[in-house]
Formats: sequence, C-alpha cells, structure tokens
Amino acid sequence: MKIQIILGTTRPGRVGERVAKWVEAGAKEINDFEVELVDLADFNLPLLDEPISPRYNPERNPNTAAKKWLDKVGQADGYVFVTPEYNHSISGALKNAIDYLDYQLAKKPAAIVSYGTVGGARSAEHLKAVLIETKAAIVPEAVALMDFSNVLDKDGNLDAEVAAKPYGPAAALKTTLNELSWWTRTLKAGR
Ligand SMILES: Cc1cc2nc3c(=O)[nH]c(=O)nc-3n(C[C@H](O)[C@H](O)[C@H](O)COP(=O)(O)O)c2cc1C
Repeated sequence: MKIQIILGTTRPGRVGERVAKWVEAGAKEINDFEVELVDLADFNLPLLDEPISPRYNPERNPNTAAKKWLDKVGQADGYVFVTPEYNHSISGALKNAIDYLDYQLAKKPAAIVSYGTVGGARSAEHLKAVLIETKAAIVPEAVALMDFSNVLDKDGNLDAEVAAKPYGPAAALKTTLNELSWWTRTLKAGR
C-alpha cells in the first residue's frame, strides 16, 4: 500500500520538515506501507490558474507544475497530511495545492498530523472540512503536536522522555498510522 506523507509548508526554515520526517519514520515501521515523503516545496505550484473548477472540468489542461503534483498525489493509496497552524488554519500553500486536486484522493483515506501552539488543532479541523470535498475519507484518529520545535531534532527524532509518555505524541502517531493502515487496505479493496 502506497502512503504519501504530504509536507504542508514551504517556507525556508520550516519546522514542518522535522515533523514530516518523524511521521515518515513512524510510517516505515508499518509492515504493509510503502512510504514516500511528498514535499510541496518541490512543486512550485503557482496560485490556481484554471478557468473552471478542476472537478467540473473534464477537459482541464493543468500547468506543468500542477500536472507533476497531480500525477504524484494520484499514485498513493493513503495519505498523511502534515499541517502547521497559520492564523488558525492551514498554510496558503497547502490550500492552494488541495484546490488543484480533482479526484486523486477520492475514496482514499487521509490522516492528519498537526502542530502548533495548541497542537495545530484549529488547522486540523479546517483541514478536515477542506479534505471532505476532495472525497477523501478522513481518519478519525489524529496527532496534535505541541511544543513541536523543542521535542523534535532536525532529523525528526522525538525527545526520548516525550516518546515514552503512554498518551504522548508517539502513542498517538502509532494509533493513527495503524488506523490509516486499516482504512487504506479496506478502501483499496472497496475501490
Ligand atoms: C503566518 C503564520 C501564522 C501563524 N499562526 C499561528 C496560529 O494561528 N496558531 C499557532 O499555534 N501558531 C501559529 N504560527 C506559528 C506556527 O505554528 C509555527 O511558526 C510553525 O513552526 C509553522 O510551521 P512551519 O515552521 O512548518 O512553517 C504561525 C506562523 C506563521 C508563519
């Protein structure tokens, strides 16, 4: 089962890279996952430039960057969106990338890992509402990471003391990824 970790920020010095690496390492521990980290910064997507809403345009002709993004994201069976909280929501870069999608996520599961002062909880709720319209199935379990810049090193290793907490972020990530595994397998069979 192909799982993509979507890194939802693009700014220089972003913490998102560390969070995504942590999620990637966790996902690689799930036996039946083939994991790929997909970094929005690699696509240089312009602001959506299409005359008709992508889902309502059977003859759409996406720009080159968008074509690359759509091809990539269409390859996966399941997703983990790594989102920060920018002004109580997701980043503009992530919203723009989602606006380009037509049916690449349809009937596939999407889990959310958020980070921010309150664990990115408000952005995670916004992201759920946005992703519903892509026809993705939202995995109910999620990770909301607080104190994110102190608990992860630059390679995405979680502080050992935090990792040992029974109800801490490591446990939440494991539960979320296990649930994602079930949803991915089940929806793949259903598709
Ligand atoms: C434009 C902007 C708006 C932000 N707004 C919030 C916010 O509403 N709530 C919050 O908890 N953190 C907020 N922050 C702090 C971010 O959570 C923090 O900078 C985080 O590292 C952003 O993710 P990134 O480093 O991957 O870009 C904001 C940061 C930026 C750059």
